[in-house]
Amino acid sequence: MKLRFLLPLAGGLLAAAATAPAVDVAAAMQVAGQQLELADKARTTTTRQPFTVNPDGSLKDREAAWWTSGFYPGSLWYTYEYSKKPLDRQLAEKWTAALQQEQYNKSTHDLGFMLYCSYGNGYRLTKNPAYRAVLVEGARSLASRFDPKVGLLKSWDNHEGYKYPVIIDNMMNLEFLFWASKATGDKQFYHIAVTHADNTLKHHFRPDYSSYHVVCYGPDGTVLRKKTAQGYADSSAWARGQAWGLYGYTVCYRETKNPAYLAQAEHIADFYLNHPNLPADKIPYWDFNAPDMPAAKRDASAGAVAASALLELSQYSKASGPRYFKAAEQMLQSLSSPTYRAAVGQNNNFVLRHSVGHLPAKAEVDVPLVYADYYYIEGLLRYDKRRVGKSI
Ligand code: GLY
Repeated sequence: MKLRFLLPLAGGLLAAAATAPAVDVAAAMQVAGQQLELADKARTTTTRQPFTVNPDGSLKDREAAWWTSGFYPGSLWYTYEYSKKPLDRQLAEKWTAALQQEQYNKSTHDLGFMLYCSYGNGYRLTKNPAYRAVLVEGARSLASRFDPKVGLLKSWDNHEGYKYPVIIDNMMNLEFLFWASKATGDKQFYHIAVTHADNTLKHHFRPDYSSYHVVCYGPDGTVLRKKTAQGYADSSAWARGQAWGLYGYTVCYRETKNPAYLAQAEHIADFYLNHPNLPADKIPYWDFNAPDMPAAKRDASAGAVAASALLELSQYSKASGPRYFKAAEQMLQSLSSPTYRAAVGQNNNFVLRHSVGHLPAKAEVDVPLVYADYYYIEGLLRYDKRRVGKSI
């Protein structure tokens, strides 16, 4: 009698276990939401945003003009999107407002990170017209860094004497310009984005589809030098740079449907996933050619960016979609384990541990980084949709 009663129940549980997701998104979002709320509670002003930790273990924050300022408000918007909690929206609005003046900042190519992650997510979720106005002005500021003679957005104003350096990271700012083109009807934003993507495709990549970090151009677009700034060597594959390229070309394919961008994203994904130095947990060393493996530090931020990008790419890639989804799932599983994800109240209220910012400068080595958290949270939301076949 008892057994007859219990067997169907056990069968039901087994069936549930078989379909249970490999990553517990609800639990992960609970941790992330609590950490983000605690981070806010620990602050008395919004003039500086959480960034990482100092060597003495204390919180390191940065001013609104720093390239990472959009990630904390952006993470709050994602948390609100998932939780629908009024408090999360209130915090997202408060921290987004602190970046308003950056719409006029013409001294950086990072406005996509700064404004699209914050105001962009805010506008997507609320349709607040004031957010739209900031975004349009910000996109104009970003576009001011495009010189048609060179055919690229300038990343930095000077790098070791070179006056037109472009870094692979800049691919991440194109999504903002694609949005601006659609929002305003001004095709110039679209033209700038695809011209930048085409020239980067031409000059930034090696035959194996790994990328240089920095390409320095002359005033007429001549390539003067290919090098690194944050990687191990000029010829090495800096892990986060590979992830930025993967994410960037996936977005370019979404926005243009140009098959060359899809092929590029697939090639980058395959370089990354098939690399003999990618560890079994699929979280890369900070550089695929770091000299001191296996002691070399891992970069959870590169892992988070790659996971999020692969989840979108899995939606477009006919040949490899399921493989990319599986790899991204394994990455999120690893990042959600206690090795990488901190307990609530620990880690200066950041979600993930073990990222590397700028190792050659001995800065931000094996630390939490606010952008690792942002792309981890984005990846969780994407995984939640993709695993049940929804589009992202
Ligand atoms: N320059 C942005 C990064 O560190 O990835």
